[in-house]
Parts: sequence; C-alpha cells; structure tokens
Amino acid sequence: MRVLVVGATGFVGERLVATLAEAGHEVVAFSRSAGDTDWPDGVEPFEGDLGDPASLGGLCEGVDAAYYLIHSLTAEDFAERDRRYAARFRDIATGAGVDRVVYLSGISGDEGDLSPHLASRREVEGVLAGGSYDLTVLRAAIIVGPESASFRIVDDLTDRLPVMVVPKWVNTPCQPVAVEDAIAYLVGVLDAEGTRGGTYDIGASEVWSYARLMRETAARKGRRVLIVPVPVMSPELSSHWLRLTTDVQFPVARALVSSMRHPVTVDPDRDLQNVVPVERTSIGEAIARAVSV
Ligand SMILES: NC(=O)c1ccc[n+]([C@@H]2O[C@H](COP(=O)([O-])OP(=O)(O)OC[C@H]3O[C@@H](n4cnc5c(N)ncnc54)[C@H](OP(=O)(O)O)[C@@H]3O)[C@@H](O)[C@H]2O)c1
Repeated sequence: MRVLVVGATGFVGERLVATLAEAGHEVVAFSRSAGDTDWPDGVEPFEGDLGDPASLGGLCEGVDAAYYLIHSLTAEDFAERDRRYAARFRDIATGAGVDRVVYLSGISGDEGDLSPHLASRREVEGVLAGGSYDLTVLRAAIIVGPESASFRIVDDLTDRLPVMVVPKWVNTPCQPVAVEDAIAYLVGVLDAEGTRGGTYDIGASEVWSYARLMRETAARKGRRVLIVPVPVMSPELSSHWLRLTTDVQFPVARALVSSMRHPVTVDPDRDLQNVVPVERTSIGEAIARAVSV
C-alpha cells in the first residue's frame, strides 16, 4: 500500500514512518523539513508546507491511505491555521482519490467545555470528515515518549522543582498512552476494515492522575517531589508558572495545560482496544522508557 504520513518529522510521525516502512508499505514522508531527515531505505521524502499551496503539487498522487499528524500550536492563530491546512489537505486527498485518512486527535474529557486547543482538534476532525475518503479518528490523552510536548512538560517539572505548588488540575484523572502503543493502534486500523468512518479513544489500561504521573516520572529518575495543589490558580497565573518550569515552547505548553482541567480517560464505548487489540504498555513502563532516552 502507498501510505502518506503528513507531519512525518514529528514525535509521532517519525516513528510511524519507520514502522510502516518495516511492515512493507511504500511510504511518503511529508513535512516542511522532510528533505533534511535521514529516512529508512525506500521512504520517499516530500518536502512542502501546508501553508504554501504551490509546494503541495502531487502530494497525494497514487496514495491509498494517509495519516494526518499536523498541529500549529506554536502559532497564536493556531485554530485558524489548522482549519485552513486541514481543508487544503482534505481537498488534495479528495482530488487524488485517496481511499482512507487517519487523524490523531485529542481526548477532551468534556465535549461541552473544550479548551481552545481541543476545540481546534474537533474542528479539524470535522473539516477532514468532509472528504470523499473514509476518515478514522483516534483520540489520545498524553502520548508518553521522549519528544512528546505534553510528556516533556511533566518531565521538565520533575527536573526543576523538588517542591511543587501546582494548579489543582494535578489531581485530574488521565489515561496516557505509550508512543509504541499509539503507533501500534495507528498501524492496526489500516487492516481493520471496520474502523473506516469510526472515532476511537486510545490509552493505557490504567487511569492515573497528573500528580501520580509526576511522582513516578521523578522516581524513575531517582528523584522525589512533593506536590502541593492549590485550589485556586487562575489560567493566567498557571501560564506564568509554565514559563518557569518547562522548555516546551510557551504557546504549546499553555495550550496543552489549558486542556488538562477535565479528566482525560478512554470512553469504554469508544475504546479502540475492543476492535484493534494491542499488547498494552503499563504507564510506569512507558515512563521508564521515555526517561531513559
Ligand atoms: N504528543 C502528544 O502527546 C499528542 C497527544 C494527543 C494527540 N496528539 C496529536 O498527534 C498529532 C502529532 O503530534 P506530535 O506530538 O507528533 O506533533 P509534532 O511533534 O509537533 O509534529 C508535528 C508535525 O507537523 C509538521 N508540520 C507542522 N506544520 C506544518 C506545515 N505547515 N506544513 C507541513 N508540515 C507541518 C511538523 O514538521 P515541520 O515542522 O518539519 O514542518 C511535524 O512533522 C497532532 O495532531 C497532535 O495534536 C499528540
């Protein structure tokens, strides 16, 4: 199968390209920096910018299935950009007769109270759904791996602060997923015909709180942290606090943390594990792997 990965140089994309190539697919790796990356043998780089239509000619030529792994969280106008980029990709994929598109989105916890970041993810789902291909949406909470922006916030916090006075969202339940499992699910849906047109949640088999995630991340690095949640911390104060505690670009960290106020757990009715079973990694093991890199 000829498979296009849009966002191939990212945290998820690079691993997905390698796995698809290993599985024998003909892989096209697309991003603005795809030409500067060392790809596995046989992978075809396609360098272009979704913001520049002139750079996208032939992007979906001969493509059977595409993964869409784009976000623009570093930009102030990320929602507008992500809407425009998704519409552009949808039209190109539709014009080229792509059969399937898989989009990696986010679990929200409360569809009635979406953060701007998650509202944008939902908007992209809606835009992509307008194409002539079959769309499959996978939603994840934190994907645990060394270069994941959301996991790096947790990791940086535990490096910087032995005692943490933190917003009360640290007690929010969350169900992260190891990046290896996320990749297994992403690849698995290609062979699962029944997932065409479906929306699924992916996650580990356990539910933790962000506080436990921080404590265990610290412990895996031989540290101890004391976490002191304060009941009231305004989003503005929380944002300033982030500037001091993580190297993740501030607009990205702010957007991600604003999405942490609701429980982000897998809805049992939408759990992809029921349709595409993978041998799941425990959260502790996922953290151990991520911090050992
Ligand atoms: N990481 C997580 O914890 C997590 C959790 C839930 C959902 N997700 C979703 O999973 C997807 C992938 O996330 P990620 O963590 O892998 O993100 P990432 O590391 O930031 O990768 C984003 C990719 O998009 C490319 N890109 C961005 N703007 C582009 C443009 N204008 N034209 C072409 N390529 C562009 C980037 O490459 P260049 O900069 O080289 O162009 C990069 O390859 C996103 O949709 C994200 O919302 C992630």
